[in-house]
Amino acid sequence: MTQDELKQLVGQAAADYVNANVPEGAIIGVGTGSTANCFIDALAASKGRYRGAVSSSVATTARLEAQGFKIFDLNDIESLPVYVDGADEIDASGAMIKGGGGALTREKIVASVSEVFVCIADASKLVDVLGQFPLPIEVVPMARTAIGRRVTALGGVPVLRVKQDGSPFITDNGNEILDVKGLRISDPRTLEAHVNAWPGVVTVGLFASRGADLCLLGGAQGVERIEYRKA
Ligand code: A5P
Repeated sequence: MTQDELKQLVGQAAADYVNANVPEGAIIGVGTGSTANCFIDALAASKGRYRGAVSSSVATTARLEAQGFKIFDLNDIESLPVYVDGADEIDASGAMIKGGGGALTREKIVASVSEVFVCIADASKLVDVLGQFPLPIEVVPMARTAIGRRVTALGGVPVLRVKQDGSPFITDNGNEILDVKGLRISDPRTLEAHVNAWPGVVTVGLFASRGADLCLLGGAQGVERIEYRKA
């Protein structure tokens, strides 16, 4: 199977999971990226079961609306039964690197109010140690260089994310992203807390203190279901 076919497979598996486990009339938290898009398209067949969705990005809002889902503001919601999203890397504890699509901040916010985080990924995303994929950090633009120095002191190589025309990539929140290469993240929880404390950091794309509860991992043998025991 191609990577795109695996994404469709896990997108459908996540829709099946939500349809089987989430009560009718619920509001669903929805992530961002090509795998999350497959989930949106698969869930569209049963959209009548749900009141709507809370979205993690402008792009996801557009996709959900095109499929006929009503969008809710997170400020009007107390909790979400489930949040479904992809990942750039996931380790054996359910900790993830996310933000390859630039939506890490809103993703982390929506995930934080969700009871169950379902990660959907193809098998290439499962790693022993996080960090092969550059770690995104969303930063307030005036802090970019100061944060870059702290990253370098940690042994990482910060690279400002740019668009095709060479201008900085700007997030939905009006900030910039540093992609950090060269880190071997053996203790993701500690690194997440450490980087979060730097002035000017909006969000670090480590999802460890609130990692996945369940991963639906697509591979040659089909969809593997991995549940994580939380400390
Ligand atoms: C978006 O900012 C990311 O966190 C995505 O969830 C992550 O990059 C996975 O994207 P794909 O499903 O497109 O690989």
